[in-house]
Amino acid sequence: MNWTRKDLTGLESLSAAEIEHILDTAAAFKDVGSREVKKVPALRGKTLVNFFVEPSTRTRVSFELAAFRLSADVINVSASTSSLTKGETLKDTALNLQALHADIIVLRHASAGAAQFLAERLDSSIINAGDGAHEHPTQALLDTFTIRERKGRIAGLHVVIIGDILFSRVARSNIHALVKLGARVTLCGPSTLVPRAFESLGVAVTHDIDSVIADADVVNLLRIQHERQRKEYFPSLGEYTALFGLTKARAERLKPDALIMHPGPINRGVEIDSDVADSGRSVILDQVTNGLAVRMAVLYLCAGVRPS
Ligand code: CP
Repeated sequence: MNWTRKDLTGLESLSAAEIEHILDTAAAFKDVGSREVKKVPALRGKTLVNFFVEPSTRTRVSFELAAFRLSADVINVSASTSSLTKGETLKDTALNLQALHADIIVLRHASAGAAQFLAERLDSSIINAGDGAHEHPTQALLDTFTIRERKGRIAGLHVVIIGDILFSRVARSNIHALVKLGARVTLCGPSTLVPRAFESLGVAVTHDIDSVIADADVVNLLRIQHERQRKEYFPSLGEYTALFGLTKARAERLKPDALIMHPGPINRGVEIDSDVADSGRSVILDQVTNGLAVRMAVLYLCAGVRPS
């Protein structure tokens, strides 16, 4: 495939072929991590700025390591130490990073659409590392990569995504990727956090976890996004765990080869039992490892495209 996108701002606009091309490219890059010298010269001479206006562990470190492995130069900018605190706009900050020859800007921002806003105004490649409750494309790509690696396919699998869907950028990007690749997707959680409106995206909605758990090939647990909720959407965390948590009893009802996934950070004992999170069926840390290869693929592909 001839890759033509300088930016990755979401998966909604990508075709199934484009998503598969990223996954195939990531598979080729995954080998680099097992070599003694974990570097290739693909982005030598390029500069990547990791611009994180919201907290992150996995995504920020993963993009930084991915850029190192591709031999790019990397600078990290956080909101608290940038001139955003003095009133500079996001656009002006980004234009200044571009003036400093940033070839790629990886942006995490609390506002939906922030990455697209910059992508339309800058020549630098803009990679969305999570924009509000909108999209987190590389998280969904690494989730999809992990499922494909373990199951050998995506099409025909039943993927159940459980939790706070309404405020989850991870859920939205996963829905776009999984539906395009032919998976059957069911969303599950309290009716306040999983409204039936999501059915328009081609997925099923249920508010009864026990009706779907035994039929799942993959369960993906999502954290309650307290930082994005403006009011309480369920009575208590205890009630949430009782009704929607992946408890030990529920984990026993899963198919023997079902995958247990979580994008992190985990709230142990809330959306997932601590022992279940650490069990043999959990691929949570494999997801993190695969994130490195997926982000190498995204950086490599997008940095190779310049605006005409
Ligand atoms: N999954 C995820 O985005 O984690 P971080 O917030 O730690 O980057």
